Amino acid sequence: MVGLGAIRQVSRHRQALMFALTTPAMSSKVVTRNSVLFLRVSCKQCLSSSNLVQMRSLADSKQVNDNVEKIRRGESESVGNPEDLPHFRLPAVQSASEKASKSTTSAGKKEMPPIGTYVLPHPIWTEEQLHEVKVTHKQPDCLVDRLAYRTVRLFRGGFDVFSGFKFGTRNEKKWLNRICFLETVAGVPGMVAAMMRHMTSLRRLQRDQGWIHTLLEEAENERMHLLTALQLKEPSTLFRLCVIGAQGVFVTMFSISYVISAKFCHRFVGYLEEEAVKTYTKCLEDIDEPDGPMKHWRTQPAPDVAIRYWKMKPESTMRDVILAIRADEAHHRIVNHSLASLSKDEFNPYKPGK
Ligand SMILES: [Fe+2]
Ligand SMILES: [Fe+2]
Repeated sequence: MVGLGAIRQVSRHRQALMFALTTPAMSSKVVTRNSVLFLRVSCKQCLSSSNLVQMRSLADSKQVNDNVEKIRRGESESVGNPEDLPHFRLPAVQSASEKASKSTTSAGKKEMPPIGTYVLPHPIWTEEQLHEVKVTHKQPDCLVDRLAYRTVRLFRGGFDVFSGFKFGTRNEKKWLNRICFLETVAGVPGMVAAMMRHMTSLRRLQRDQGWIHTLLEEAENERMHLLTALQLKEPSTLFRLCVIGAQGVFVTMFSISYVISAKFCHRFVGYLEEEAVKTYTKCLEDIDEPDGPMKHWRTQPAPDVAIRYWKMKPESTMRDVILAIRADEAHHRIVNHSLASLSKDEFNPYKPGK
């Protein structure tokens, strides 16, 4: 059991460190490298005996409420040294594209780093975490929640028709069309929300409470889903036109909605991610079915970009990629449901890469 004093001490160090790391330009004090290091050491010492809360979770109503309660009690994780995050570790495997890149460089040609070389910190899932993801639903609690849920259900229905999932049998072409299109849309909310909060911080001359990095990480994570799926698909002109049209409409609508109600937008994304988890679970069923339309993804090698991004084993398959993407979507689900349940001035409990 952690005493109240220890929790307060942890909270003080954590908030001071987050402040020092995230808002140096906004601070009235000069934060030196030494003071950051001191805070980091202090935090490590006082956290070593604490029960830290694993923030990754499912996202039904009870779990979202429990999560928000823990966040409000200050029971969230400490800020890790960026060099200790898995993202910054030397890759365990050297992918084929990396080898190709090195050999190209040694041959004196222009160096072209492989996709995924420059990415923000993001969770690397364990085998256990990949398989514990479940389809869940958070019951709407208020009018805003109900509105967000109805909007998502409407989008889902329309998208099932648009992607051909309502008719005929599913096949690889339909799956790739659906995944690629879905991910071009899914990458929008995090970027728009991050930009809105960034602008608000600049305009009001106030700190952001640490939300921006989580939102940017989400946007990049969705874009990496897209880049991974694009390794298997050559988009047609019609597909590209549909993406441009959808982006124009969705960016405009989401931006206006975020100005009116950030709560609605995060709840909307929470419900959108519930649907994404359902979709990827359905994809796994199609892969695992003995004569399923996607059974070849059980043995089809994972693209290099996926092996690099999720730090997967070299022998990983497309099935492993879908498991990793589904775990990411489940993470966005609890993050956005939690952010929707917090006031926009509350502290973001999700640390970089968590
Ligand atoms: Fe995604
Ligand atoms: Fe997502």
